[in-house]
Amino acid sequence: MKEQIIEIISKAAELDKSMVADLLEIPPKADMGDFAFPCFQLAKTLRKAPPLIAADIAEKIGDVDILEKSEVKGAYINFFIKKEMFVRSMLDTADVKDFGSSDMGKGKTICIDYSSPNVAKNFHVGHLRTTIIGNSLYKIYTKLGYKVERINHLGDWGTQFGKLIVAYKKWGRQEDVERDGVAELMRLYVKFHEEADKDDSLNDEARHWFNEMENGNQEALDIWQWFVDISLKEYKGTYALLGMEFDHYMGESFYRDKTADVVTRLDNAGLLKESQGAKIVDLEEYNMAPCLIMKKDGSTIYATRDLAAVLYRKDRWNFEKCLYVTGQEQKLHFAQVFKVIELLGNDWAKDSLVHIPYGLVSLEGAKLSTRSGNIIYAEDILKEAIEKVKEIIVTKNPDLENKDEVSRKVGVGAIIFNDLYNQRIKDVSFKWDKVLNFDGETGPYVQYTYCRCASILRNASYDENAEIDCGQILDEPAISLLKDINRYPQIVRDAAEKYEPSVVARFSMDVAQSFSRFYNADKVLVEDETIRNARLKLVALTAKTLKDSLSLLGIDCPEQM
Ligand code: ARG
Repeated sequence: MKEQIIEIISKAAELDKSMVADLLEIPPKADMGDFAFPCFQLAKTLRKAPPLIAADIAEKIGDVDILEKSEVKGAYINFFIKKEMFVRSMLDTADVKDFGSSDMGKGKTICIDYSSPNVAKNFHVGHLRTTIIGNSLYKIYTKLGYKVERINHLGDWGTQFGKLIVAYKKWGRQEDVERDGVAELMRLYVKFHEEADKDDSLNDEARHWFNEMENGNQEALDIWQWFVDISLKEYKGTYALLGMEFDHYMGESFYRDKTADVVTRLDNAGLLKESQGAKIVDLEEYNMAPCLIMKKDGSTIYATRDLAAVLYRKDRWNFEKCLYVTGQEQKLHFAQVFKVIELLGNDWAKDSLVHIPYGLVSLEGAKLSTRSGNIIYAEDILKEAIEKVKEIIVTKNPDLENKDEVSRKVGVGAIIFNDLYNQRIKDVSFKWDKVLNFDGETGPYVQYTYCRCASILRNASYDENAEIDCGQILDEPAISLLKDINRYPQIVRDAAEKYEPSVVARFSMDVAQSFSRFYNADKVLVEDETIRNARLKLVALTAKTLKDSLSLLGIDCPEQM
């Protein structure tokens, strides 16, 4: 349909098809038609007011057989496709394998730096957000044909490991660390700070041990590597629950032999300044605090390793974009890093490096953060969700097979959906009743809608090749469901452009709700075979669209729940 509309406009307006394709929109509301062509951009070359241009083009188009009508509204021409034609073309997409996909990203690479927990610290709910958002962006960009590198930039290097080595050597026991993992490492870390408040020489010892790490001392590196392995094992447990993976675990330590080169480059470019014994890049001209590159004891910091990481990634993958999904509190950090990269003569930094911030998580009103003392592990929340779903299933559907696997999909799906349903910059509030409400605007509701579709198709032994009569499903609920589904390809592109998975989450909810309206209004399993088959095809298309859009969020659909 879209191709035909493009063809019609490009003929009438004497415009390039690709230009028409770029401009053509799908209106946000059904009463504005199926497609809309905005004429603002043509005003410059045609030296005419956009509404006049729209009227001209509409007149040239005249009557066309696939159109019910076209209407000029301000600078737009709105196209209303004949319902039957629209239904036919939409139902055909039920058999298209990659509905919503595109090859716009062909040959291009996107790096996504996300999750990235800090070794020896708990994987908290903030890390859960970056993991969920980053994973969804990975799915969305992959659907658009991009090659995506999923990078876990673990916080596995820095002065804190000097402290931890001191604490372990003084107060730690191997068996405790092996038994309690990250929790024990956190206890040792807290103990270090308590003791260092009383005895400052501990801080010197810690600096010494981090220097030893940076200088390659084997004893220091062995202990450190052990801390990394223990932590990573726990994080991987969380990823397994989520069903998520990475292409690269390249933490900060990966760049430890690459920071010297950054310092040299900055120096050669005349960007490095001394300030109280430390080395910095002055960013006053850009209204930013200076970017610290090297402390006065010669050790590098978080920012130095991020600078090395940008250069390394650009060199290795020649990315079109590199996205960083972290909390808002790192806004300045990334602004500084991106600016310094640009000042090194890399103009691409301006468009290619993107910080993607997100809001905080609160649990029943109370803030979840390690600083407030109540330590919350993401893994515990996921497990609790799975547990709670299992309880519901056991009472409501005791005969269901694979209860554990279904509970995992639904419990985790509920958490993911709750996270992605609102714009990422908004804070996420977390209330169990709300997250797990099977009738609310939740993941389980959308999954349940999918299961209903799947069960209808199973019971009717749906045959995708059966004869259908599109003229038979022209009633409002069916058409409006089809119109919702029709938006999918554009939804995926919008979500990518705005780095906003919520666009997809909202869409899946719209489709689920539209489906309910259709299902309540129209009986699917009617006597008349061609009507039944047409409606079944619509059910199949809905199922497929729900499943695919949820998969872009990182949510699996069970077939029954
Ligand atoms: N480890 C950091 C944290 O937990 C996030 C790292 C983000 N990525 C980066 N390249 N700096 O806050």
